[in-house]
Amino acid sequence: MAMKVPTSVSSQSGAQPVQRPRIILAASGSVAAIKFGVLADSLSDWAEVRAVATKSALHFIDRQSLSPSVKLYVDEDEWASWGKIGDDVLHIELRKWADAMVIAPLSANTLGKVAGGLCDNLLTCIVRAWDYSKPVFVAPAMNTFMWENHFTQKHLESVNDLGFVLLSPIPKKLACGDYGNGAMAEPSVIDSTLRLSMHSRESQVKPMVLDSL
Ligand SMILES: Cc1cc2nc3c(=O)[nH]c(=O)nc-3n(C[C@H](O)[C@H](O)[C@H](O)COP(=O)(O)O)c2cc1C
Repeated sequence: MAMKVPTSVSSQSGAQPVQRPRIILAASGSVAAIKFGVLADSLSDWAEVRAVATKSALHFIDRQSLSPSVKLYVDEDEWASWGKIGDDVLHIELRKWADAMVIAPLSANTLGKVAGGLCDNLLTCIVRAWDYSKPVFVAPAMNTFMWENHFTQKHLESVNDLGFVLLSPIPKKLACGDYGNGAMAEPSVIDSTLRLSMHSRESQVKPMVLDSL
């Protein structure tokens, strides 16, 4: 699988190759997935991006508009890439490949599933296999009635316990015409939050202490 080949870019000095952070950008079936291409483009400016979409999300994503540098994986790819024992399993390979994951938008349904540990598609299998020393960001997007429903609070508490970083939704006129909270955080806010977080994680990596060798 091409994912196994690390991609690097040269640093400004040209001396050392610099590994860009590897991010899984995943979308579930909220209307806000129409912004998926914009978010993929802005993350691609500074990170290596692999995209994942649920079946419902594909209703809102214009696949033709995605940059060719962003490979989009869907549920069928799990089975297309596996034929026999010993073959790579896509959700495990993606989980190994990534430094971080962002689910934007996060639908009420996928929130409920990941909160309960369910894993019946590519996106939720990646989350279920995740290494929680690496960050998972979630940007919920749903109608206000869903956002204010008791289940949302319960499910957010569960994913908060797992260490998920919540990119809070914002109040505005929603796609259904209602006004209220539940719209996905702006792609620019999601992008800058991830960029800052990944940058600060990189700078926390301690240099090797040579005199202890
Ligand atoms: C037109 C339309 C718009 C929808 N918008 C949302 C939404 O904004 N947020 C949400 O949580 N669910 C929304 N849904 C419902 C989800 O698509 C549905 O719960 C689906 O099962 C989600 O699947 P997924 O979580 O696997 O992507 C919408 C459904 C339709 C038909």
